[in-house]
Amino acid sequence: MTDDWVDIGSTDELSKKPVSKVLSKTRELAVSFKDGTFGVISNACNHVGGPLGEGRLDGEYINCPWHNWKFHRCTGLGEPGFEEDAVPSYPVKVEGGRVLVNLAAGTKRTRKPHDPHPLARKIVREPGPLRLAGISTTAMDEANPRFSGSDHLLNHALEAAKKRGAETRMIRLSELKFRACEGYYSKSALACTWPCSITQMDSADQMDRVYEAMVHWADAIIIASPIRWGAASSLYFKMAERLNCVQNAVTIRNQVLIRNKVAGFIIVGGQDNIQGVAGQMLGFFAELGFIFPQFPYIAHSRGWSHEDMERNVEVVRDSQELAEGAEELAKRCLDLAEQLVARDQAPASIERGGRKAFDLHMEQSKIAAHAKVTPTE
Ligand code: FES
Repeated sequence: MTDDWVDIGSTDELSKKPVSKVLSKTRELAVSFKDGTFGVISNACNHVGGPLGEGRLDGEYINCPWHNWKFHRCTGLGEPGFEEDAVPSYPVKVEGGRVLVNLAAGTKRTRKPHDPHPLARKIVREPGPLRLAGISTTAMDEANPRFSGSDHLLNHALEAAKKRGAETRMIRLSELKFRACEGYYSKSALACTWPCSITQMDSADQMDRVYEAMVHWADAIIIASPIRWGAASSLYFKMAERLNCVQNAVTIRNQVLIRNKVAGFIIVGGQDNIQGVAGQMLGFFAELGFIFPQFPYIAHSRGWSHEDMERNVEVVRDSQELAEGAEELAKRCLDLAEQLVARDQAPASIERGGRKAFDLHMEQSKIAAHAKVTPTE
């Protein structure tokens, strides 16, 4: 092995921070300084490439800033129990106030096999009857249940689906313990992973049930929400934020996770803004890849001048028309889902022009290649 000692900076500069990111030749390094000694390891985390040089020191380990994997700051080995998961480490010495690293003598990157998360499995529609998932987003005290108009109509929709021969699954967000989205996307698009970073790190987080139903199991979903201050319920938004990873799979890998699936909505409010709430839901679920039946939502609200929510409960509970409306919505969703599943024509990736994070300024070489295959008119 030949030596390739490279000067990566002054000891004064590199000892100012516990961890620094340094570019040496073409290699990115995570340089640490603790108790008077330097350590140098690769900047790229074994997980999904997080920048270790932007991490923090936890004892002798550098904590990755993306999802907290840890690597020994001098040996590059993973934390105890995960030593096999090692990033390259480099010999380092100090001469004349300069820090030198032998880039030719790096250790090998090794990976401990990690079982993939169950959600990461290939998305295959298993044979069987149509499947409808109802997602209740009403925020109720589970210990003291009371009537929910949106749940009531959702139950009608699920009953109608069962009568049509579909399998159904009810997911009540108020029963699930799940964390709010912690904004991994704002660390880097690559830090927002599929399956969700939180789901992979926290086995107690129950958002996996929603992902499982939406991405793998259901052919159609119906989301029921009350209106709160002119918007969908807070639990709806808590769920929607966690679905960023589904949309982000399209952004960073052009991977469409939602294929041949239909969404419908039930919106019940004490006051108006139904169109606003429905528009937001339609826009968001369209962006995930869901398709909508003709007339994709039903709704009900009391007007501004009636502060009589007890009447609202009564109206929703007793209304035959609303119940039938919910049942018909389920049928419309399943009719469309049946066609989509039979045809199976939904793309697994899409044209990027105009899509999020697509760079419109194509490099000249790509423009030239494009011109070659596109005859001018
Ligand atoms: S922990 Fe480093 S990239 Fe995920």
